[in-house]
Amino acid sequence: MKDVVVLPGPSSIELGSSIASCLNVDAVEVELRTFSDGESKIRINANLLDKKCIVVQSTYPPVDSHFLQALMMLSYCNDFGASEVIPVIPYMGYARQDRVFLEGEFVTMSMIAKLFEYFGTRSLITVDIHSTKALSYFNCDISNISSMPLLAKYAINNFSLTEPIIVSPDLGGVPRAKEFAGIMNASFLGLRKNRDRFTGNITMDEKLDITIKNRDIVILDDMVSSGGTILRAVDILKNNGCGKVFVMCVHALSDEKSITLLKSSGINEIVSTNSIPRSCSKVDLSSEIARTLSSILSRS
Ligand code: R5P
Repeated sequence: MKDVVVLPGPSSIELGSSIASCLNVDAVEVELRTFSDGESKIRINANLLDKKCIVVQSTYPPVDSHFLQALMMLSYCNDFGASEVIPVIPYMGYARQDRVFLEGEFVTMSMIAKLFEYFGTRSLITVDIHSTKALSYFNCDISNISSMPLLAKYAINNFSLTEPIIVSPDLGGVPRAKEFAGIMNASFLGLRKNRDRFTGNITMDEKLDITIKNRDIVILDDMVSSGGTILRAVDILKNNGCGKVFVMCVHALSDEKSITLLKSSGINEIVSTNSIPRSCSKVDLSSEIARTLSSILSRS
C-alpha cells in the first residue's frame, strides 16, 4: 500500500480521511476555492507520480459542482502521472435519470458514465446506486456496495421494535427492503407509489397487502430528497394503525431544515449512512469501502 494515497474531495473530507485511516495510507489535501461566479478551482500540493490515487467525492447537492470537482481531481491525477485512479462516488448523482420517461428527455446517467470513461476510469466504487439500469451504463469494473447489512445492524442494535415490518415506499425499492428484512428476520411490505412525470406529484395506493396494526415500521429508501415520498408513506402507514415509525435511507440528500421538519411529522428517528454528511448520518461506510478498495488494489 506504499504507493497508494487517498484524495478526500471537497464533498467527502471526513469520509475520505476515514477511508485513508482504514487503509493505513496517506490522505492528500485537496484545496477548494469557489469564485463569486460559482466556479470551483482545486489545488493539490502533492507529488502523485506513479501513485495509485483514490478520489473520494460524493455528488450530493450542489450536484453539478461536486461532479465537476470529481472530474477535475481525476484529470489532475492523470495529468500528474498517477499510475491508477479509482473514483469512489458514495452517492452517485443523476442515477435517477437512468431512462427516458417523457419524449424529448435525455439519459443523463449514460453521459456521466461516459465522462468517467473519458478520464480513463477502469474501476469505480459507489454505494447503493439508485437502479441496476443506472449501473448498466458503466463500461468499467464498478463495485456497487450494498449498505443494507450495515443499516440493518444499526436498526437491530439501536431501535426497539415490536413485530417490525420493513417498508419500501415504492416497488423499485423492494429488492433492497427484502435484503434488509432478511437480515432482520422481519416481514416486508412494498407500497405502490406513482409520481406524475410532469408535476412531480406523488400518489400512493392506500390499500396495503398486509395488516400492520400496532406493528412497528422501518421505512427504507435509497434516498430522501424533498421528503415527499416519506411523508406520504408515513401518512398511509399511520392511517392503517401502525406502531412506531423509523426511517432509514442510504443517502440523506435533504438539507438539515427538511430533516428537522421530517422528524416532527411523527417519525421516531431518521438514520442514514455517511455517504452524505448530515446530522442523521450515523452509519459509517468507511470500513466497507476500504475493504472493497483493498480487494481492487490487490488485483491491480
Ligand atoms: C425514488 O424512486 C427514490 O427511490 C426515492 O423514493 C425518491 O427519490 C425520494 O425523493 P423525495 O424525498 O423527493 O420524495
